[in-house]
Amino acid sequence: MEEERAVLRHGKVEHPLEVFVGTEGESGLDIGRLLSSTGMVALDYGFANTAWCRSAVSFVDGNVGALRYRGYPIEQLAEHSCFLEVSYLLFHGELPTLAQLAEWREAITVETLLDEGMRQMFDACPREAHPMVLLSAAVTAMGAFHPELESTLAAEQAAIHLLAKVPTAAAFSYRRSRGLPYAYPRRSLDYCSRFLQMTFSVPGEEYEVDPVAARALDVLLILHADHEQNCSTSTVRLVGSSRATVFASVASGVNALSGPLHGGANQEVLELLQQIHADGGNYAKYLARAKDREDTFRLPGFGHRIYRSYDPRAGVLKTFADQLVTRQAGQDPLLEIALALEQTALTDDYFIERHLYPNVDFYSGILFRALGFPTRMFPVLFALGRFPGWIAQWKEMTEDPETRIGRPRQVYVGSPQRDYVPVHERR
Ligand code: CMC
Repeated sequence: MEEERAVLRHGKVEHPLEVFVGTEGESGLDIGRLLSSTGMVALDYGFANTAWCRSAVSFVDGNVGALRYRGYPIEQLAEHSCFLEVSYLLFHGELPTLAQLAEWREAITVETLLDEGMRQMFDACPREAHPMVLLSAAVTAMGAFHPELESTLAAEQAAIHLLAKVPTAAAFSYRRSRGLPYAYPRRSLDYCSRFLQMTFSVPGEEYEVDPVAARALDVLLILHADHEQNCSTSTVRLVGSSRATVFASVASGVNALSGPLHGGANQEVLELLQQIHADGGNYAKYLARAKDREDTFRLPGFGHRIYRSYDPRAGVLKTFADQLVTRQAGQDPLLEIALALEQTALTDDYFIERHLYPNVDFYSGILFRALGFPTRMFPVLFALGRFPGWIAQWKEMTEDPETRIGRPRQVYVGSPQRDYVPVHERR
């Protein structure tokens, strides 16, 4: 890592600032002493210009549409790797050997059962509850069932515990919402087949694994596994910076992910496509609404804070969506609407000028639907994929000696000081 310097001139005074250059050439101005040297804070809504950590987990080049985990391009990982190997890579920093991967897979497989008390927790929640709420509650509760895993010294055991039990909790949240009895994990299955079995198996019937569906889900999870300092990952780090446990931190990640501008967008995309279909396929109406400044409607699945070109994850998913949807159900009318909507938006000046391209959520919803999931489960599937990233980022943060509790500043715009007036004297 090279170090350079920059100078901030304010009035007649010059303030030297260190420039930190990362391994991919992007640089950061170190403003850690800005307040003490200038008396000013940096004002940056939405942290659009603020790097608040050094991280070696993943890298996004928004200009060319590239995403790499620990240096490996996601296209290569999606084609040749599997989700558990990617989880190992994110957590440990290096790809595993054959023996290490077998050990990691075995450790996760034997942990898949949920504690019995957790089942009662699911039963106690209303059937109408959003599955993201149930998932978040389950992850928080895992700390209560296993306090021995709350220490940072047990980070690897906690990671294994979470990666093993989160799919079971996700499947339970689905079955609870359908009023179905819970299906316990079949250890002989691979990670994604097991999740599909726990979700979709019919009581009294032998579940038959569909290898194409299991592989599609595996690729989907790989593509969601990490994405730099996005809203939920920053939330995990912020919560963890107070030395909250890994369970408390990643449960906060689930909550942050549930919003429609983040992991909830895939659900919104599908609902929009269904609405357009019901509307006779009139997508132009919704494009016009998205462009109307008076209308708060945004086209879900389009735009990104970082990507100024096609989201590479959407590129991989588009190919998969085509294959899976065609194979399973003939031509899906929603896929056709999605393709037409995408083509029109890509040639529209409004979208071109603002560099608005489809993001990962645009096609993931169609794929999740083709796999048989209801729309309310889509954010849960996003979360399932994101856990390895959250855990790796949490671990990196706890091990970084530079970590301080996250505590942003503000520029106060409220009332200046004034004196209290007793209520009976107020007019
Ligand atoms: N539809 C219509 N206009 C949009 C959209 C959209 N989806 N996204 C951004 N814009 C416009 C926005 O109105 C603004 O226009 P103007 O310059 O005229 O004011 C301009 O583009 C820049 O937008 P921004 O709000 O400054 O961008 P942001 O970086 O703050 O927000 C975003 C990023 C992803 C929240 C936003 O693009 C959005 O709301 N997209 C729809 C929701 C979505 O798909 N979210 C999933 C993101 S990818 C998965 C993940 O990592 O979470």
